[in-house]
Amino acid sequence: MIKGKSLIEVNDFSLEEIDDLLSFAGKIIDSEKNYSGLCKGNLIATLFYEPSTRTKFSFESAILRLGGQVIGFADAMTSSVSKGESLIDTIQTISCYADLIIMRHPKEGAPKLASKNSSVPIINGGDGGHQHPTQTLTDLLTIRQLKGPISNFTIGLCGDLKFGRTTHSLTKILLKYPDINFVFISPEELRIPEYIKEGISNNRYQETFSLESCIDTLDILYMTRIQKERFFSEEEYLRLKDSYILDMNIMKMAKNDMIVMHPLPRVNEIATEVDQDDRAVYFKQAKYGMYVRMALISKILGKGGN
Ligand code: CP
Repeated sequence: MIKGKSLIEVNDFSLEEIDDLLSFAGKIIDSEKNYSGLCKGNLIATLFYEPSTRTKFSFESAILRLGGQVIGFADAMTSSVSKGESLIDTIQTISCYADLIIMRHPKEGAPKLASKNSSVPIINGGDGGHQHPTQTLTDLLTIRQLKGPISNFTIGLCGDLKFGRTTHSLTKILLKYPDINFVFISPEELRIPEYIKEGISNNRYQETFSLESCIDTLDILYMTRIQKERFFSEEEYLRLKDSYILDMNIMKMAKNDMIVMHPLPRVNEIATEVDQDDRAVYFKQAKYGMYVRMALISKILGKGGN
């Protein structure tokens, strides 16, 4: 049962709980108006210590569409953090006011620490290069809505697989579904960490630098940005930043029913000409993010059934 639980890593929920959540999100998509007052009377805090467009706005629109109310900050320096207040004290205080706290933080482990010091559930909206569980729920809902059951496909994850928290969370959860094969496409310097690959049998994954060499085998291509903010050296970032640019020439090599996903924001890694291709689903994916967050908030607050 999700009611009252924090979500720090995607594995905090069982597969059954995730599938139930995705089904509920599907119901909300089909008849959103039926759920418009579900969280009336609830007050939810969004604490963003790091910039965000999709996560912050999709959560806030999810709350408002459910009839709830939002407090919070998009810049911690407008709060008493600027006076040196600790994360623990901030969380202990905000949990006196809100029924649920959604937070993004640049430090890995900060949401976990917050959950140990909060009297209300915490949702991790992304912690450093570690995890981004609600993006993963977004990705799973997108796959389910557009490709059917989550099984029996080959997914290519492309770009910054070293620091890319979205690819880490997604790989970890997809490992639990049947018959999924992975192609990890990255420069040598940005390879997926060993601990993420743990548990994938050798015949279920391959690693390559070349997108062109494997795109025709993919059912899903999950593009990611080379993240400037995670590099210690500007020179290294400049060398790697344009490692991949998906354009229509490369798309011609892909299957007709392959979908292109991206957690966004994008920089150069997908040419804007690809946006017009029906296989480009990243803006639909951003919308599914709002619906899955509606389902998640409702369930944690005990408003969406067990
Ligand atoms: N996908 C994602 O997390 O986007 P934002 O950084 O804009 O929230």
